[in-house]
Amino acid sequence: MAVNVAVVGATGAVGDLIRKVLVERSFPIKSIKFLASEKSAGKPVEFAGKQYTVEPIRAEAFAGVQIVLSSTPGSVSKEFSPIAAKAGAIVVDNSSAWRMDPDCPLVVPEVNADQLHHIKKGIVANPNCVAIPLCVALKPLHDISPVKRIVVATYQSSSGKGAKGLVDFNAQVSAWAAGKPVPAPTAHRAQLAGNVITLDWTLDPNGFTEEENKVINETKKILGDATIGVSPTCVRVPVKVAHSEAVTVEFARPISVADARAALAKAPGVVFMDDVKGEFPQPIHAEGSDHTFVGRVRQDPSNPNALCLWVVADNLRKGAASNAVQCAEELVKRGIVK
Ligand SMILES: NC(=O)c1ccc[n+]([C@@H]2O[C@H](COP(=O)([O-])OP(=O)(O)OC[C@H]3O[C@@H](n4cnc5c(N)ncnc54)[C@H](OP(=O)(O)O)[C@@H]3O)[C@@H](O)[C@H]2O)c1
Repeated sequence: MAVNVAVVGATGAVGDLIRKVLVERSFPIKSIKFLASEKSAGKPVEFAGKQYTVEPIRAEAFAGVQIVLSSTPGSVSKEFSPIAAKAGAIVVDNSSAWRMDPDCPLVVPEVNADQLHHIKKGIVANPNCVAIPLCVALKPLHDISPVKRIVVATYQSSSGKGAKGLVDFNAQVSAWAAGKPVPAPTAHRAQLAGNVITLDWTLDPNGFTEEENKVINETKKILGDATIGVSPTCVRVPVKVAHSEAVTVEFARPISVADARAALAKAPGVVFMDDVKGEFPQPIHAEGSDHTFVGRVRQDPSNPNALCLWVVADNLRKGAASNAVQCAEELVKRGIVK
């Protein structure tokens, strides 16, 4: 079945990739329109070799639309996603606005696509770009022995801050490499070139950043177990695209390294890279891919029930655009979109 689609936030870093991913994955489109802020109205965008004109976001634009793929700031989604849903569309939303709403499923298709049958508000939330690959990597192991506790340190790319992050990255890294004065950051909270930043997000009252609290809460919701312990430290590194994660995960019962490797090697959405053969996941492997790359599986020497692993995924694709398009594919395949 071909559907009427609207891409909202079509001019942003994630929206730009949604346009590409829809074409790459041959998403069944009857009609498509592209919306953004008033500032972008009238600008041209390319889709499948044709030029389209960006429309300003407004209620009338959603008439007849069946699926909305939205990638705007959360405040914009709070206002417009319910309007689109009321007009009859199912919204797949990339912002954090709806993720912890009990009436909105938080979906990673390889992990919990069944949640798409419980859409009460017409809105499906696309999870955080660290939580998505973490859950893709842990689900095949969780199925062998339930996850009890996760300790994760992240190495997050500049593009996690959207198009403005990449402006900072390009200006700073080129100046730094040329030995010139590094321009002051505009999107990041400190210099990124030649540096790492652990407070690149708002600090919440519990002492964790907003990003770390998303990883805590969303991982539990996606894996469907509020008792899982999650201890994250989120860090920005001078990488353009793709987030990496150093993960230590404790299970209810021990899982051998051999069993974990075998499960990961056949897990949906996972590319298992075998350190025994000298392969290990790097951001340059993940950039441009819809897969989650996993490797460096080791027994935790301090805990017989725990394993250590390394996870890398493209934050703009699997962490946002591709996961959203996969959700839309499932909505069509399962006959949820009428
Ligand atoms: N970057 C990532 O790795 C990532 C990963 C997961 C989730 N997300 C989430 O996805 C969303 C988009 O992120 P991004 O990185 O693509 O940001 P971005 O590059 O800054 O793009 C934001 C988009 O939203 C539009 N927009 C902004 N204000 C608007 C308004 N008042 N009305 C209508 N449209 C408006 C922008 O349109 P104009 O160009 O017209 O301003 C642009 O198309 C955010 O909620 C972000 O948290 C991002």
